[in-house]
Amino acid sequence: MSAEQSFQGQTALVTGGTRGIGAAIVQALVQAGAQVIATGRDPEAVRRLNQDPVATQEGQVAYWAADFAHPASLADFLAKVEGLERLEVCVNNAGINVIRSTNELSEAEFELIDRVNLRAPFLVAQAASRVMARAGYGRVVNIASIWGVISKPGRAAYTASKHGLVGLTKTLALDLAPTGVLVNAVSPGFTLTELTRDSLSAEEMASLAAQVPLGRLAQPEEMARVVLFLASRENTYITGQNIVVDGGFSIV
Ligand code: NAI
Repeated sequence: MSAEQSFQGQTALVTGGTRGIGAAIVQALVQAGAQVIATGRDPEAVRRLNQDPVATQEGQVAYWAADFAHPASLADFLAKVEGLERLEVCVNNAGINVIRSTNELSEAEFELIDRVNLRAPFLVAQAASRVMARAGYGRVVNIASIWGVISKPGRAAYTASKHGLVGLTKTLALDLAPTGVLVNAVSPGFTLTELTRDSLSAEEMASLAAQVPLGRLAQPEEMARVVLFLASRENTYITGQNIVVDGGFSIV
């Protein structure tokens, strides 16, 4: 591993880092030498994880509780982030989905998805970049979605939030460019995680795989590899971009 690929001596924050794509990103950062702060929603589960030497990777991962659907929990978390002495990497990964047609989608559901998928990443990036700007270096990666580029019936709230996140990435990149902070988005296609298994049946997953030019769903590690490049010192000139990692699905 070159010095630019290594995260030795760096601190990285990954929201929603306890499972799925977030957990794969945490694992990849740990292997590359970073100290990682990973958030989870359930304070009790977070307490247990912090006592587990396997989960903490012998002290390399610290779990923080944060529920972005609850303003007080989010505010506590943001204050902790702003209080960090150093932070080189921030990955806004936490996200939720509700698949319901526009006629049936409630305002409360729309609001919840907006809160978790768009408002929280803005506030987290704002807090993180204040710490990064002090050192004149930082990398923010927002996990968006193919539904941040295209759409499908039943995804009004999710698509709006992810399109918003891609747009937000561009403005953050512009606002933070003078501070040495590069901001990009990674947009996963269909990835095998709990979120996918909860929202799709086995038949739906097989039918989706058949629609992907590469003929299969992605593994979370395939997202983590792209995130790692964008979050590393090796990335010196990509900012404000959205890298779509979807096996070719969105180009057909
Ligand atoms: P997942 O459901 O396995 O994990 C989501 C993570 O977000 C969990 O760690 C969870 O604790 C956290 N989270 C959920 N609600 C939260 C809240 N209110 N406050 C704080 N944290 C919260 O999901 P998965 O599949 O790993 O997705 C990760 C990201 O990738 C999400 O932003 C998702 O929208 C995006 N994505 C996933 C795709 C897939 O096929 N799995 C495809 C495209 C995008």
